[in-house]
Amino acid sequence: MVLVLGTRRCDSSRMVYAGCCRSLKITATVLLLLASLSTRWDCVDADGAAPVENCDKTGSRCTLTNAYAAWNDRSTCTAAAVVYPTTEEEIRRAVASAVKAKQKIKVSTASGHSIPILACPGSPTGVILSTRKYASIVNIDIEKRTVEAQGGIRLRALIDSIAKQGLALPVAPYWEGVTLAGLLATGAHGSSLFGRGGAVHEYVTSMRVVTPAGANEGFAKVRVLNLGDGDLKSAAVSLGVLGVVSTVTLQLEPAFKRNLTLEIVRGSDDGLEDEVLRIAQNVEFGDVTWYPGLRQVVYRYDDRVPVETLGEGRNNFVGFQAQQAAVSAGIRASEELADDASNRKLKCDQAFTQVSAQQLTGYGYHQNGKFFTGFPVIGHQNLMMSSGGCQNSPLPTFYCPWDRRVKGLFYADIGVALPLHNLRPFLNDVKRLRAALPNSLCDLDLYTGILIRFAKRTAGAYLGTAQDDDAALLDFAFSRGDDAKDIRLDGDVFQELEQIAIYKYNGNPHWGKGRNYLFEDVAKRYQFMSRFVDTKTRFDPDGFFSSPWSDAMLGVNNATSVVDTPGCALEGLCRCSKDEHCSPGKKSFCRRGRVYPEARVCRFEL
Ligand SMILES: *[C@@H]1O[C@H](CO)[C@@H](O)[C@H](O)[C@H]1NC(C)=O
Ligand SMILES: *[C@@H]1O[C@H](CO)[C@@H](O)[C@H](O)[C@H]1NC(C)=O
Repeated sequence: MVLVLGTRRCDSSRMVYAGCCRSLKITATVLLLLASLSTRWDCVDADGAAPVENCDKTGSRCTLTNAYAAWNDRSTCTAAAVVYPTTEEEIRRAVASAVKAKQKIKVSTASGHSIPILACPGSPTGVILSTRKYASIVNIDIEKRTVEAQGGIRLRALIDSIAKQGLALPVAPYWEGVTLAGLLATGAHGSSLFGRGGAVHEYVTSMRVVTPAGANEGFAKVRVLNLGDGDLKSAAVSLGVLGVVSTVTLQLEPAFKRNLTLEIVRGSDDGLEDEVLRIAQNVEFGDVTWYPGLRQVVYRYDDRVPVETLGEGRNNFVGFQAQQAAVSAGIRASEELADDASNRKLKCDQAFTQVSAQQLTGYGYHQNGKFFTGFPVIGHQNLMMSSGGCQNSPLPTFYCPWDRRVKGLFYADIGVALPLHNLRPFLNDVKRLRAALPNSLCDLDLYTGILIRFAKRTAGAYLGTAQDDDAALLDFAFSRGDDAKDIRLDGDVFQELEQIAIYKYNGNPHWGKGRNYLFEDVAKRYQFMSRFVDTKTRFDPDGFFSSPWSDAMLGVNNATSVVDTPGCALEGLCRCSKDEHCSPGKKSFCRRGRVYPEARVCRFEL
């Protein structure tokens, strides 16, 4: 059997990657044996990390995309210009000139990992301000244990710099490629119910934000926000609508190491509900990865130990390592085969193979920085907390697994903050969903199952991650069709899962993940939303930093995150209320959920 999986040419609609002329042809003889794949490259990109903004030769028509080369609504973002300030004064001047010319303005980053279209000005005459060249440490205060850094700095550079000064940030996202201002803007987090909890925005002590201003103030000004100032609680998680975050100051702690053991339980997930809550309360940096299709659980026992403890371990999480393009494309191709054949068992076999391979290498935890020889792994906080690698790959045919230049993995990534007291019934409902349709959940397991992390109820941000209670932060992904109108195998099950989390158990979607319909009316769930909107109205009364999408998220200006178009529910652009929202012509109909009858899902029925 010979399959041609993907061919790309340079064309103006896909100008996001410099030097994109190349094609990839893959011959797959035995699909599950990736070793049998061979590739041929016509030409090769120099930059291993996906750039996210690009302009035509005249510099007057620019497109912006994210690291996945796909916003969650698949729309295209265009703008009139991109600017690359290197100082705060250059930021101020860029904002002033946009305000004076009445142009919308938005900040993009070198990372671009947000899936909702927050970084887009929302108007083709708008200006994109990139923080690519604004990414340095400003100051580390060893006595006060704080760091001040420019918004565009990447997490890896930040935590390595502070580690060199004997300090540590206790929590951060697991993916090191995100920027400081970007991760804060979307409420990104690690995992902990200790101290201030797992959300990074709880550690912000001060920020400098460049906002619009009147003509008498030169059209833009720098605002300095400090602790005790309500506006800091707005700026700590701002969705980018208040202005340009120039610098951020974070509260740090003395350096420490972490002692980590992953306990893998195969064949049964009985007792999951109890152990996950025990870990939440007792393990400082614990988390749980649940593969519901495979009935496997990985418990993470991860505690702080003194910095003097022996151990030079580090986290090189396998999912963040560069992967040969042919391998990513081959995995996708075999997934598509299983999907097209409605072969759930095959998906489960694929998931088992993939998960087993990751576990064989300890998920990429290395005792001495090089090899995995067993747990525990003990290492410095900055090297254990977050990881990456693929974004810096020096090898021409190796990319991040999600990099769309190779037509590899393509998935919807859902993050939900669930009130902790709802975690147990939620997990039970997932088990009921699995029982209702055996083998239907293995698609999740192909994308690392359901990751469960924790954050304390927010004290530092009006739009903070955990609103009314400590939260279980769920993260799960499932494959997405190359075409928005594709009917995916068991798409109804994943829609039901989303709706159980959001509606039945009152979860809040992560601002940087999720599908559009999950944000419908979400503003009403934030008790301090009006205070946030008050700050926004004072900082940017004319909405230069707002777009229809951010308005929808914030519930202002009658904006909505959903549409009412044929097929809209298939890609999560609406919750179906009639068959036309699915695809009756392709036998996909709007139906009730199997375990949550209030859910409305698109189900394939012969
Ligand atoms: C690390 O954790 C393991 C298991 O949780 C424990 O047995 C061991 O004593 C710990 N090591 C140190 C140095 O704390
Ligand atoms: C929102 O919609 C209502 C009713 O359709 C209308 O009266 C109101 O003026 C609208 N508000 C804005 C800000 O567009």
